[in-house]
Amino acid sequence: MKVLLTGGAGYIGSHTAVELLNAGYEIVIIDDFSNSNENVLNAIKKITNKDFEFYKFDYKDREKLEKVFEENKIDAVINFAGFKAVGESVQKPLEYYYNNVTGAIILLQTMKKYGVKRFIFSSSATVYGNPEKVPITEESKTGGTTNPYGTSKLQIEQILTDLYKSDNTWNICILRYFNPVGAHSSGLIGEEPQGIPNNLMPYIVRVASGELEILSVFGNDYDTPDGTGVRDYIHVVDLSIGHMKALQKLDRSGLYIYNLGTGKGYSVLDIVRNFEEATGQKVKYKIAPRRDGDIATCYADPSKAKAELGWEAKRDLKDMCRDSWNYIQKKKES
Ligand code: UFG
Repeated sequence: MKVLLTGGAGYIGSHTAVELLNAGYEIVIIDDFSNSNENVLNAIKKITNKDFEFYKFDYKDREKLEKVFEENKIDAVINFAGFKAVGESVQKPLEYYYNNVTGAIILLQTMKKYGVKRFIFSSSATVYGNPEKVPITEESKTGGTTNPYGTSKLQIEQILTDLYKSDNTWNICILRYFNPVGAHSSGLIGEEPQGIPNNLMPYIVRVASGELEILSVFGNDYDTPDGTGVRDYIHVVDLSIGHMKALQKLDRSGLYIYNLGTGKGYSVLDIVRNFEEATGQKVKYKIAPRRDGDIATCYADPSKAKAELGWEAKRDLKDMCRDSWNYIQKKKES
């Protein structure tokens, strides 16, 4: 089976590329390196000892996209080519809607033109807004997103739902990621946010390595066991394996939705403690005001993915912390 990965050089795309290649899939990657670089491609080859087709262009370029479908017999598409910075999306809503929503439409139109109807979409727990109760099941209410990034994910989910209604020979799988962290155990691929990181784990790693001075813990007065925000952190390799399971199991048409999380919630201070224990590094932190748009608690009920895909997260918080740290250390050495 030949799988097209748009944004396949990015953080989650590159880890999924590795898992697919290791499992014997053929892959084609499209990436414009807007949030990655070509070293990632060499790293994927080094880890897997396998080769693949690569095209460098913006996935919204319809002509070039069509050429990829003409040159390759694509069986399935996984779309990782979304912009994903929450704060930036508030500043640049048009860019976010254009890249994420228009891009998805162009991709789906092209798939339709070439008769490819198997699609996996990277969605996010952000579509649940401020959840009424946890753990969050796939049936929980969606909506109430507070930024263009989150709204773009919700809009694409709606588009996919309508598309399936119009033609039920599509095979569409929406994967709602919780908080992906960690890196491949080789230390050759990982997360490389540009500029000052917004997300917790990359920020912690930079404080531990001395690149940033101190972590601001955004609020300690939430209704959680220690007052700090609780999230469901999932190792990026587990998340990537989830995509493969979705490809393997979903060989009949349908519209499927799965949460990909561990089902466990950890607070900001839990993460700091576990990071220190796993790496032996100190993480200096201070309590700061709440961050706008943050919610108190968000974690998944991942039982549907277990029952239907035979998938569950295996790596624990220590693995996530150690692998995040290992990646940065390896990068510094190279
Ligand atoms: N946090 C801090 N200090 C920081 C960064 C984060 O205390 O410097 C806290 C946040 O307040 C929150 C937790 O750490 O309680 C996690 O924050 P992240 O920014 O790492 O992640 P979010 O849960 O806010 O958002 C992530 C992704 C989104 C996705 C969402 C889905 O970044 O893309 O999960 O739940 F939509």
